[in-house]
Amino acid sequence: MVLRKIRVEQVTSRGGFELFARLPYEVYADREAWWPPDVQNEIDLLAGRALITAHLDLCPFVVWSDGRPVARASVVVNHRYNEHWNEKVGQIIHFEALDGEEEAVAALLEESLTWLTRRGMKAARSGFAAFLDYPYAIDNYAALPSFLLRGNPDYYHRYFKNARFATEKGQVDYTAPLTADIQDRYRQMAAAARAAGVTISSWRDYGFLAAIDVWTDVTNAAFARHWGWNPISRPEVRPMLLPLGATLVADLSMIAVADGRPVGAVFSVPDLSGALARLRTGVKLAPERGGGTRGALINIGVLEEVRSRGIARAMAAESFLGMAKNFMTYAGYTLVLDDNWSSRRTAESLGARVTGNFVSYFRTL
Ligand SMILES: CC(C)(COP(=O)(O)OP(=O)(O)OC[C@H]1O[C@@H](n2cnc3c(N)ncnc32)[C@H](O)[C@@H]1OP(=O)(O)O)[C@@H](O)C(=O)NCCC(=O)NCCS
Repeated sequence: MVLRKIRVEQVTSRGGFELFARLPYEVYADREAWWPPDVQNEIDLLAGRALITAHLDLCPFVVWSDGRPVARASVVVNHRYNEHWNEKVGQIIHFEALDGEEEAVAALLEESLTWLTRRGMKAARSGFAAFLDYPYAIDNYAALPSFLLRGNPDYYHRYFKNARFATEKGQVDYTAPLTADIQDRYRQMAAAARAAGVTISSWRDYGFLAAIDVWTDVTNAAFARHWGWNPISRPEVRPMLLPLGATLVADLSMIAVADGRPVGAVFSVPDLSGALARLRTGVKLAPERGGGTRGALINIGVLEEVRSRGIARAMAAESFLGMAKNFMTYAGYTLVLDDNWSSRRTAESLGARVTGNFVSYFRTL
């Protein structure tokens, strides 16, 4: 067996951040369609220039095999997460790796776990961190995943399992065909909410800046007990969402008001595959995957005291009707925990079916 020269490097330089951020171009080089990383955004995070880093101890690693970078990961102590849940869980985010690099990846994960142990963490999670990391796909390996979601290769699962990680949580991604019949049902759901005294407005009609703050407040309240979540502040969210005010996000995202106060929020995006996905020349996406025809509901929350009144359904229905009005024929309902039945029931009541499956990994230290 040829012994490779393995070296795990802690990345600290501008050049190193660039190489780190661009490694996915190697991993996904053969893909017909994939979502390339926002390199500058990632470099700002690694360099500590992103607002969210005020709450993080973050350390990026790259592992070299015979002088070639073959895998990467950032290890994170997310203080806000651990304070919120009173836990000592470290996070491994940005994991990407080439195939056939068992030795190098084992060294990378070992170094990562040692770094977390030295900082008092009792366990490590990979594949879910609010605003930082998304779960690992367990199907559709060659297809373009929903916006924001991973389209990782299958061999990632062997890398994590061989590093003694276990599956912690499963998640599903849904897709609804926006047929005429289903749209009629959406109009009825919206009418039922109006009849119950609930007003649902797009972020544009509500006032985009005010809507962003309502989204932050409602989401923090609605997700306070949602596994894996941690609160986020208005000053962090505003610069992330404000630039979207001039896009269809303002028309597809919704706010629900009942008894004069905001009680629900939805953040939705139009089909971004044309603008952001990387397609090999001549490749045409299936309409239920993208190509201008698939919008996506990214996040939905309703305050506990007004749940089970059809507010989530009505907000999502209005969002999906907005997608249909803008020539989209499919709507994604993105990333729901396997055991989050109220949200899964919401997706199913909107005529959506499971079209993607994901897992998050966990191990004790
Ligand atoms: C998921 C959530 C948005 C649903 O909001 P809601 O306004 O209560 O939902 P609706 O009243 O529109 O009900 C939608 C469906 O969920 C079902 N539902 C509502 N609460 C439920 C519960 N606690 N358990 C099981 N099903 C429930 C309803 O029966 C309905 O299903 P049906 O159409 O088959 O009858 C809300 O529970 C929430 O904010 N949860 C916390 C944040 C979260 O998990 N968001 C989704 C992340 S993917």
